[in-house]
Amino acid sequence: MINPSNKIRTMTIDDYDGIYKLWAETEGMCLRNVDDSYEGINKFIKRNPETCFVALDEWQKIIGSVLCGSDGRRGYIYHLAVHKNYRKIGIGSNLVNEAADALKGLGISKAALLVLRTNKEGNEFWEKMGYYERDDVIYRDKSLTDKNN
Ligand SMILES: CC(C)(COP(=O)(O)OP(=O)(O)OC[C@H]1O[C@@H](n2cnc3c(N)ncnc32)[C@H](O)[C@@H]1OP(=O)(O)O)[C@@H](O)C(=O)NCCC(=O)NCCS
Repeated sequence: MINPSNKIRTMTIDDYDGIYKLWAETEGMCLRNVDDSYEGINKFIKRNPETCFVALDEWQKIIGSVLCGSDGRRGYIYHLAVHKNYRKIGIGSNLVNEAADALKGLGISKAALLVLRTNKEGNEFWEKMGYYERDDVIYRDKSLTDKNN
């Protein structure tokens, strides 16, 4: 059960320093120069103001985050992270459930995400959360700028 003092609220750009510190300390985050810069996250939050969340400890320090957005058809989940001292008490699942509820409130009926195949714990978490692996599609992408973004 989540500790009642571990509050979850929507993310704002004022959270940037706290979330970036959490991401930098968290394994498997795959941070990118442009996407994860202040400007990149500001753009994402402005476009998706209702679907990104942070979890706070009793001193209002950020201990969890999820970036979630939609293109009007599908929801996409990025950068789910819980500080290692606060894992396995329900914060990760609460963040994901808040994001899923917010997506449903926008009329979005399906959400997707990418996890590194080598992230065993992350994959076990997502399996438990009902986000199942697809073996019938191939994920393709292309850098549109040739930069590390
Ligand atoms: C994955 C992560 C977000 C889980 O956060 P959390 O707050 O510990 O998750 P919860 O406590 O809500 O756990 C939800 C369920 O997943 C299970 N789970 C969580 N971590 C797990 C792990 N390492 N191995 C197996 N199962 C795990 C829990 O047991 C729980 O199941 P239960 O309800 O049956 O007990 C956290 O471990 C983390 O930040 N990992 C590093 C970053 C990462 O891998 N992010 C995901 C990929 S983008």
